[in-house]
Amino acid sequence: MDIKSAIQQAALPEHIAIIMDGNGRWAKEKGESRIVGHYEGVVSVRDIVEGCGEIGIKYLTLYAFSTENWSRPKAEVDALMELMVSTIRKEAEHLKKNNVRLKLIGNITDLPEICQKEMQEGMDITEGCTGLTLILALSYSARWEIVAAAKKIAKDVLNGTITEEEINDAYFGKCLTTAAFPDPELLIRTSGEHRISNFLLYQIAYSELFFTDVHWPAFRKKDLYEAILNYQQRERRFGMTSEQVKP
Ligand code: FPP
Repeated sequence: MDIKSAIQQAALPEHIAIIMDGNGRWAKEKGESRIVGHYEGVVSVRDIVEGCGEIGIKYLTLYAFSTENWSRPKAEVDALMELMVSTIRKEAEHLKKNNVRLKLIGNITDLPEICQKEMQEGMDITEGCTGLTLILALSYSARWEIVAAAKKIAKDVLNGTITEEEINDAYFGKCLTTAAFPDPELLIRTSGEHRISNFLLYQIAYSELFFTDVHWPAFRKKDLYEAILNYQQRERRFGMTSEQVKP
């Protein structure tokens, strides 16, 4: 049986989040500049979006640019911004044809205007799509998001929209940039690092974590399917006992 057909449809994660790491190291190993690694990373993005669509994943969140990434050398930041713009410009119609809806999370107003405009156009073009929702995390960090949510809730209490007693984890979740999406059941990080790097800290409370040594530019559908198969072999207990969660 090939790896794709081994996946149980009834136990698919609804939402997969990916920390795409290793573009720079992949490029270095090939004697290329880091930017080449980012360009090849887009080839992986295309393959993984297609792979998610093929098996019926509903949400895919990609950590494409973190708040901390602004501290990289200016040439690399500029190249990444240009790559986002050119990729979305090229791919928006293709996404629509494949019924993929584009969404963004992050401090979007930090992005160059052309990038904001192109992303907005991509979201407008794909607005009515009902297959996979592709969520790009751009200028995103979980601490930024949690602090913004705390500020919003403080205002809500001050202006009487909500009382302190009514604040609960569901309300908090609704104040995050991911309010419209379910929490990811599976979080994948490529390239051998075992850390979360300020990504979706609130939302991954009960996510299954999968780490692979494969660098992002080399990550393909088969690697995604391997991660899903691994996820399907796990027992998710949510703090309960094994006996309680056994079907
Ligand atoms: C991490 O590898 C990768 C990034 C910071 C950028 C990821 C962006 C892309 C793949 C482009 C995506 C484009 C769209 C439109 C979704 P790294 O540079 O940290 O690699 P290293 O750890 O080996 O140095």
